[in-house]
Amino acid sequence: MDFTANSLEEHWMPFTPNREFKEEPRLVEKSSGIRLVDHRGGTVLDGSSGLFCVPAGHGRREIADAVHAQLLKNDYTAPFNLGHSGSFQLARMVSAIAPEPINHVFFTNSGSESIDTALKICMAYHGARGDHRRQRFVSRERAYHGVNMGGVSLSGMVKNRDIFSVCMPYIVNMRHTWRPEDRFTRGQAENGEDLANDLQRFCDTYGGYTIAACFVEPVAGSTGVLVPPKGYLERLREICDANGILLVFDEVITGFGRLGPPFAAEAFGVTPDIMTMAKALTNGCQPMGAVAVKDEIYDTVVDASPDGAIEFFHGYTYSAHPAACAAGIATQTLYRDGGLFEQGAALIDHFQDAVYALEDMDIVTDVRGYGLIAGFDLKPGAKPGALGPQVQKRLFWNGLHVKFTGDAGIVAPPFISTEDDIDEMIDILRRTLLEYS
Ligand SMILES: Cc1ncc(COP(=O)(O)O)c(C=O)c1O
Repeated sequence: MDFTANSLEEHWMPFTPNREFKEEPRLVEKSSGIRLVDHRGGTVLDGSSGLFCVPAGHGRREIADAVHAQLLKNDYTAPFNLGHSGSFQLARMVSAIAPEPINHVFFTNSGSESIDTALKICMAYHGARGDHRRQRFVSRERAYHGVNMGGVSLSGMVKNRDIFSVCMPYIVNMRHTWRPEDRFTRGQAENGEDLANDLQRFCDTYGGYTIAACFVEPVAGSTGVLVPPKGYLERLREICDANGILLVFDEVITGFGRLGPPFAAEAFGVTPDIMTMAKALTNGCQPMGAVAVKDEIYDTVVDASPDGAIEFFHGYTYSAHPAACAAGIATQTLYRDGGLFEQGAALIDHFQDAVYALEDMDIVTDVRGYGLIAGFDLKPGAKPGALGPQVQKRLFWNGLHVKFTGDAGIVAPPFISTEDDIDEMIDILRRTLLEYS
């Protein structure tokens, strides 16, 4: 294997126990299709599509060639007061699959930047309407909205916030949607819609007119795949409409076919005002995120400014980077012309059957799933959250990559997987879990 790193010390790795990892590194040196090759030459199935970002599989030549050609043709264009055709083309492609009337796209470089951008868009929108009382944001327990200051403030994960005690003020968290009585429910639970009434309680307590927006992941992904109960998202929409609150769907994981249709908004039949996205936008080949908004939001912010003035004081040096746009266009073309979402959707039943079959294992205390994503909880070891990372390591050496958050594992295969690939993944999972049973 071509393993050239001679020191692991200098790279401070993200969300990783650095000392432990460097004693027993797991390096991926090659990737192709749904398989990774580690530095010892072992083959590992990619059971979480990287970090939910590689639905079309690794090593797609169409995307690599597009990025290569773009870098040779025009490698960088300053994004403020200048443009290049790729960003307009990609924005149009994203708008074409977003629900109406979501037709305006602001580009960022990650999901975290998309969340912080969405927060600012909400503030800009209410400000443009002269509605300056709306300073409060609503989010949810067990939410993950990335790691920038806005996203950390919204998130409902204690470890991500406890050392960053000074976060954004005026954020309140609704209850999460996991209920013990719904363990092993496939898809959406019948009951639990009333959890959405937490938003109504905040309106009653603080005044709906003080709330700018409500941020939710349609399916909470990183904290273990928490599927909304039936009627829950619809109820949030109703309360938002009645109180002038913007509804923001964080579709960073659910976007681009993970639940079957292009976005969760369509899967659940609820249209938000704003959608954040990243990850599968470029099939993970270039860092890129986006915030898509309804026409009315774009028009209100843009029309509120005098002629010739910048309407929204926000943007990044790498907003709509030409190479990222080239990767995005090639990816979206692949999804559309290659029927990738349909290919993924055809795999859903088989995938869900395979994951839910783990229900018979004592060590598995819950399974939840929707579309091509599913989460399972492990019976905690001596300390909650300690077993998951151990199992994750063991799985890797046994030939399967799965994302874990504490004791929750999250399986989300690439859409190009076959039924046999899914069976192989779940087989490795079962064999590995047996080592801990
Ligand atoms: C729902 C959600 N929002 C935001 C983010 C942050 O995205 P990024 O890691 O690209 O900043 C993630 C990442 O997993 C996510 O799952």
